[in-house]
Amino acid sequence: VTKPETYRPQYHFSPKAHWMNDPNGMVYWKGTYHLFFQYYPDGTTWGPMHWGHATSKDMVRWQEQPIALYPDSLGWIFSGSAVVDVNNTSGFGKDGQTPMVAIFTHHNSKMEKQKSDKFQYQSLAYSLDEGKTWTKYAGNPVLPNPGIVDFRDPKVRWNEQAKKWIMTLATKDRITFYSSPNLKNWTKESEFGHDLGAHGGVWECPDLFPLDYNGKKAWVLLVSINPGGPNGGSATQYFVGDFNGKTFTPYSKATKWMDYGTDNYAGVTFANTGNRTILMGWMSNWQYANVVPTDPWRSANTVPRTLGLREVNKELFLTSVPVKELDILKGETVPMKNLTVKGEYDLTPKTKNETGLFKLDLTTQNATDFSIVLANEQGNELVIGYDKAANTYYIDRSRSGKVDFEKGFGKRHTAPRLAVDGKISLSLLIDVASVELFADNGLPVMTDIFFPDKPMSKLSIKSTTGISISSLTYTKMASAVQG
Ligand code: FRU
Repeated sequence: VTKPETYRPQYHFSPKAHWMNDPNGMVYWKGTYHLFFQYYPDGTTWGPMHWGHATSKDMVRWQEQPIALYPDSLGWIFSGSAVVDVNNTSGFGKDGQTPMVAIFTHHNSKMEKQKSDKFQYQSLAYSLDEGKTWTKYAGNPVLPNPGIVDFRDPKVRWNEQAKKWIMTLATKDRITFYSSPNLKNWTKESEFGHDLGAHGGVWECPDLFPLDYNGKKAWVLLVSINPGGPNGGSATQYFVGDFNGKTFTPYSKATKWMDYGTDNYAGVTFANTGNRTILMGWMSNWQYANVVPTDPWRSANTVPRTLGLREVNKELFLTSVPVKELDILKGETVPMKNLTVKGEYDLTPKTKNETGLFKLDLTTQNATDFSIVLANEQGNELVIGYDKAANTYYIDRSRSGKVDFEKGFGKRHTAPRLAVDGKISLSLLIDVASVELFADNGLPVMTDIFFPDKPMSKLSIKSTTGISISSLTYTKMASAVQG
């Protein structure tokens, strides 16, 4: 008899069993999206890292594949990226086969124990069969450690201006950019950030990519930090600026957060997706990832999100919205128009939700206090709302079910509202044990996990001041879990 997997996400990727953290090497190639991930196949807590692997035709329905990269004599396989080397700059391609090249950190635990400060360095592996099997490069490491304790998580992308590969690397309290013509020989170009941004923890898992806005182009630099997030634990900050092929120059000194929830970490973008920029993050937090009450696996990813830029008060901000591919899971809808709620409006008789999987989209006519409450017969409540006085969105999971496995888990999280119009629009994705809030078309965003004692079958809207909702659409979501 198999145990019921109480908290198994149904439309977020999670490994069938064992431990997962950061998404790695995400790349689109020949009709397939590849997701690699930090994986420990011998336990449900963090351990010697491998690269797990999953593939999908649509980023929604994932098939887990055999482990792609195993630890070797140079170390465990930490985070990194993958590219499609279409011009065979690396020379790994043979007989016209285009190589997929993974650029990752080797973490040498023996050297770490010997108190060396050079135990992390960058290495390569390549695949000539579209990601099925991988060969480590005999010349590893390709970027030895210059004496920096935290020297990891290479994100590599072809740069048209420099006509070279650019590696964005987390180097303790800053980002270091390197360039290479062939992925094998790397030259340091510049450093960024030791005197800018949030520094409550070590810098990890960066990404650098261009985005268009109003016919112009700006570069976004993502930097995950642990700890030091706006609502505790690990989180991802970003900078918007210019990158000239060598140096990154931010447009402003403001610290900005990609997601104000506590459960979107180490997110980076897919390579090779043309003019779409798509991110997935690890839907957990180092503060409690190792003790969350799931079994026989730990951790899931966020849904894939399309990134964009929006200007507010002369500042550029990153927006994230769910990819349109998720629409394939849409089921029955309950559409409502012109609803005024003062006190409580119980949607449960209309939604009759037993699965805990749904999407809720609503637009209000006024920006005033209201909340959306998910609940169950056990008295668990997850509250998502807007607080007018503070001008913040919030998710309160303090009474959402199992919270005491870690002292900081059962908290209320907030995100500043940036939009200045009188309307509020919200889109919520609920999948058994996670909530993703996309407010005002993706700015701000909050992602939180939670562990109710029973599925959250009740749904209501509350407002003491009274709220006019011009439209509300509740949509059942189907499961994307593959057999
Ligand atoms: C981020 C991180 C990375 C590292 C990996 C190890 O979550 O700490 O910096 O490469 O996880 O699993």
